[in-house]
Amino acid sequence: MTTSNDLFVLGVETSCDDTAAAVVCRRADGSCQILSNEVWAQHDDHAAFGGVVPEIAARSHVERLDSTIERAIAVAGIPFDRLSAVAATAGPGLVGGVMVGLTTAKAIALAHNLPLVPLNHLEGHALSARMTEPAAFPYLLLLISGGHTQLIHVRGVGDYVRLGTTIDDAAGESFDKTAKLLGLGAPGGPMVEAAATGGRANRFDLPRPLAQRAGCDFSFSGLKTAIREAATSIEQPTGQDVADIAASFQFAAARHLAQRTEKAMEMISPPEGDRRLVVAGGVAANCSVKKMLQDLCAANSWQLMVPPPKYCTDNGAMIAWAGAERIAAGMTPTLDESLGLAPRARWPLAPHKDGGKLGSGRKGPKA
Ligand code: KG4
Ligand code: ZN
Repeated sequence: MTTSNDLFVLGVETSCDDTAAAVVCRRADGSCQILSNEVWAQHDDHAAFGGVVPEIAARSHVERLDSTIERAIAVAGIPFDRLSAVAATAGPGLVGGVMVGLTTAKAIALAHNLPLVPLNHLEGHALSARMTEPAAFPYLLLLISGGHTQLIHVRGVGDYVRLGTTIDDAAGESFDKTAKLLGLGAPGGPMVEAAATGGRANRFDLPRPLAQRAGCDFSFSGLKTAIREAATSIEQPTGQDVADIAASFQFAAARHLAQRTEKAMEMISPPEGDRRLVVAGGVAANCSVKKMLQDLCAANSWQLMVPPPKYCTDNGAMIAWAGAERIAAGMTPTLDESLGLAPRARWPLAPHKDGGKLGSGRKGPKA
């Protein structure tokens, strides 16, 4: 049963290579119902180029966004005039694509006289677990996507403190580069995960990045170099060699993510009732990564929450939901404010806890 306090929000996501739209309902009690979640993945459009081409991504969004939104509205059975608001990614991301989504959302908001919530894409990931899990504030967030690898203390809607970030490649980027090196194709992460099945994770002794460094920043470039050396040391790699390299890389990457997360747990050291780790972003779909984090949480009496894979990778539901969370928290911008907001290629979600310089909030092509 719906009540007048329920929020129905259309979410639009176009920051990289997924054209996505969704309608979610946020009930007055804070629960979430995902009424539709339409994603058009552009992998095929970019396959020939070995990575995401910004110009092609923007054009594909133009071609597909209208029909994706139409489907999201039709599947949800909530016509535009029953919506409470529109939310759209305003950055960080490939700016051509962000512009397509944000401009479309502005047009819908104007045509139907709806509030528009322009959102930081990372906030979408940061709050995504609350759609399906009992993730009460505060929690520790491990955000692992194609453009970002961050540990964030999420204290409430709009209240984020960044504890650590990558000093070079993002976690998803390192999976994508490994896939490319091994000739596995795109999307890289799932290909590496599939190739690693039956592989020996202990065949190559890979480095433990930043093991001696205080804090909880990440680094993946050393692993990338070690993997390249392992691959080039074999003259004619067999299927088993490829599986072993993929499994060794996946294990080393998961171990690194878990080790740095453990440091962040020590850093914030919350009371027993607040020991919640939420994992979001595309790499959270990886079973080895999940298993390593499960073991870490079990050993330290933390609760682990990982959204289902379709809400870990880019999607419109997380954007609609983050918009609804902002509105429910009384943070709705006026239409004038949101219409004036320009798309942003860079947009850090949170200040570093030490006011540090790391992490521009850039999200670039995943090649
Ligand atoms: O969150 P997302 O969909 O887009 C960004 O905001 O970047 O994350 C995409 C990234 C890609 O690098 C992709 O290779 C990685 O997440 N990914 C995975 C898996 N599924 C997606 N990495 C490892 N294992 C997976 N199963
Ligand atoms: Zn993302």
